[in-house]
Amino acid sequence: MHSHNRASIGHQIKYALRRPQRIPGHVRRLGRNTWLRLSTRDHVDYYRAVMKSDVSRGPERAAGSKSHGRWLALGQMQFDYLQRHGLKPEHRMLDIGCGNLRAGRLFIDYLDTGNYYGVDISPDLLMAAQKTLVDHGLRDKLPHLMPVKDLRFAALPDEMFDVIHAHSVFSHFPLHVIEECFQHIGRIMKPGGWFDFTFDRTEGKEHQVLREDFYYRTETLMALADKHGLRGTFMDDWERLRHRQSKIRITLLDAEPGAERVTMVRPQDEQNEQRHTVADRIMQDLR
Ligand SMILES: C[S@@+](CC[C@H](N)C(=O)[O-])C[C@H]1O[C@@H](n2cnc3c(N)ncnc32)[C@H](O)[C@@H]1O
Repeated sequence: MHSHNRASIGHQIKYALRRPQRIPGHVRRLGRNTWLRLSTRDHVDYYRAVMKSDVSRGPERAAGSKSHGRWLALGQMQFDYLQRHGLKPEHRMLDIGCGNLRAGRLFIDYLDTGNYYGVDISPDLLMAAQKTLVDHGLRDKLPHLMPVKDLRFAALPDEMFDVIHAHSVFSHFPLHVIEECFQHIGRIMKPGGWFDFTFDRTEGKEHQVLREDFYYRTETLMALADKHGLRGTFMDDWERLRHRQSKIRITLLDAEPGAERVTMVRPQDEQNEQRHTVADRIMQDLR
């Protein structure tokens, strides 16, 4: 959890004074990202270009791991957590932003053949994912790896997945991309299924750094989930693990025993939905 605003000038000056050796790298990244933002249409396009550039320094680095050891450990942490929470080989699983299968390789190995679906906006990381499959002898498990250009899941059938997972993915999304996911995720989840995602949590002002890392308050994401007929649960046990992001679990509100049935909100209904005012106000502040 981060309580300070990493985008503030004060924080940046203090950070630069403490770690002057990082200034050239930061300036290079700032220049690259500015150019990529100017030459791409929207955030997804922009982030795909960031990934393409990062993959050229190595897919494990692009997935967020500084060393192969960290890549292995971070994959194991994701896998162990979901298995402790009841992931079963017969479950069908969707891994959003699967990258080069840091955790995906373990899920693929564990799940029954054909039950793993990985989607990613980066063709470069999906190519690297195929190499991971080969390197780990997982071809026979027939995972589905699909490039996507948005988070509408249009090519996937209704009520398809028991478990949906996005690790270190929402931390790179502006709020409207998270909202697009929330608008559509309920359709592809099985009743009784769950969707876990990690996010960069702040208790202070919400902010972003270099349009790569976005910091949200828990209540913003909870309100957004509620707006779309979903229940968000903050996962306290994840906080005990050594990871700097936090985790929220999304379930279908109307799948819970005794819950009032909530209809998924269609975009055209949104203006009339009085109960959404909190999320709407927060979102206007962030757009
Ligand atoms: C930090 S990496 C994490 C990869 C993987 N989840 C893991 O833990 O190794 C973030 C991944 O999310 C993907 N991504 C970013 N935005 C996405 C989007 N809108 N839809 C699908 N994938 C996305 C990136 O291409 C990248 O592979």
